[in-house]
Amino acid sequence: MPSLFDPIRIGAIECANRIFMSPLTRSRGTRDHVPTPLMVEYYRQRANAGLIISEATGVSQQGLGTPFAPGIWNDQQIAAWCPITSAVHAAGGRIICQLWHMGRVVHSDFLGGQPPVSSSAIAAPGDARTYDGNKSNVTPRALAASEIPGLVADFAQGARNAIAAGFDGVQLHAANGYLLDQFLRDSCNKRTDAYGGSPVNRVRLLREITEAIAATVGPERTAIRVSPLIPMLGCQDSAAEEVFLCVADTMSRIGIAFLEVREPAPNVRPDNAPLIATQIKTRFRGPMVLNTGYDRADAMAAVANGSADAITFGKPYIANPDLAERLSKNVPLATVNVTTLYSPGPVGYVDYPRYASMPGL
Ligand SMILES: Cc1cc2nc3c(=O)[nH]c(=O)nc-3n(C[C@H](O)[C@H](O)[C@H](O)COP(=O)(O)O)c2cc1C
Repeated sequence: MPSLFDPIRIGAIECANRIFMSPLTRSRGTRDHVPTPLMVEYYRQRANAGLIISEATGVSQQGLGTPFAPGIWNDQQIAAWCPITSAVHAAGGRIICQLWHMGRVVHSDFLGGQPPVSSSAIAAPGDARTYDGNKSNVTPRALAASEIPGLVADFAQGARNAIAAGFDGVQLHAANGYLLDQFLRDSCNKRTDAYGGSPVNRVRLLREITEAIAATVGPERTAIRVSPLIPMLGCQDSAAEEVFLCVADTMSRIGIAFLEVREPAPNVRPDNAPLIATQIKTRFRGPMVLNTGYDRADAMAAVANGSADAITFGKPYIANPDLAERLSKNVPLATVNVTTLYSPGPVGYVDYPRYASMPGL
């Protein structure tokens, strides 16, 4: 029976354990979306994870509307990621880059006043973040079919750049209501061309981008993340099961390194909550990684009973830089300070203590 603490090979990547760090936007880059030296220390501290998935990282300015979030589209950004990946490798860890396009939730302030792009011209509910505080989401323009090859090329270039920056692979962000989710879901995709309508059509953009990335860096270094039943930023589906089983089949054919699914863990799942990960697992021929609300017991059970090959931890990895060691020794976990999640500087970022260095031990 596999254990959470066993090593695992995920595609081309050898991971020392199955406790992975989830992608976490922390907004400690520069205003020009370049990673900073502070980020070297943050990721180095967390190299005990079997695999680190980096914070969401923009593949283009068109797709990045989060203040101080990093990108991977220019040479300065690539150069600034290099010390981060080297530090993680030197500490024995592995790290892949989460590639991001935010679509309609990029505020036009980031785009010289131009509207953002999406599957259809429908504004997301709520606010977008800008350097001048939160502002209402603006109505995007629908991407023309003729623009799709350029978008696919941006992602392929992002993947190439990530490998040049020393990452072990990439994860395509197709979760949480961003551009790819805006194509997958019928609440926001109202297209009548080959990229809208049937599940196969709505999965087409994700397929084309994944194929392009796999052709660039190898399927064994390509992963994706989805959040089928977690409605975010106005993205949800009247038939999520059909769409995400189609995603699972498509990803099996491409032969990606792993598929990560967000679905609440048993300890945080409301009674009778609909589930989809189990069905995806029966259709996806490759390692599957689960996330959201996992504690030690749920994570150990999920790996032992075969529902997951590894678990990603988000908030626990923010507050416990040595999370894999703490889980393996079964010692208490610290909780996250939500006021410093996106604040500038080291506080609440690189100052969470390791368990062994806590006073009184
Ligand atoms: C501060 C913060 C930033 C996040 N940034 C990202 C991100 O960049 N990409 C992503 O896919 N998910 C992001 N998420 C979601 C987490 O990866 C994870 O799915 C979520 O926290 C649930 O896992 P947990 O219960 O272990 O925290 C973020 C969550 C938090 C709390």
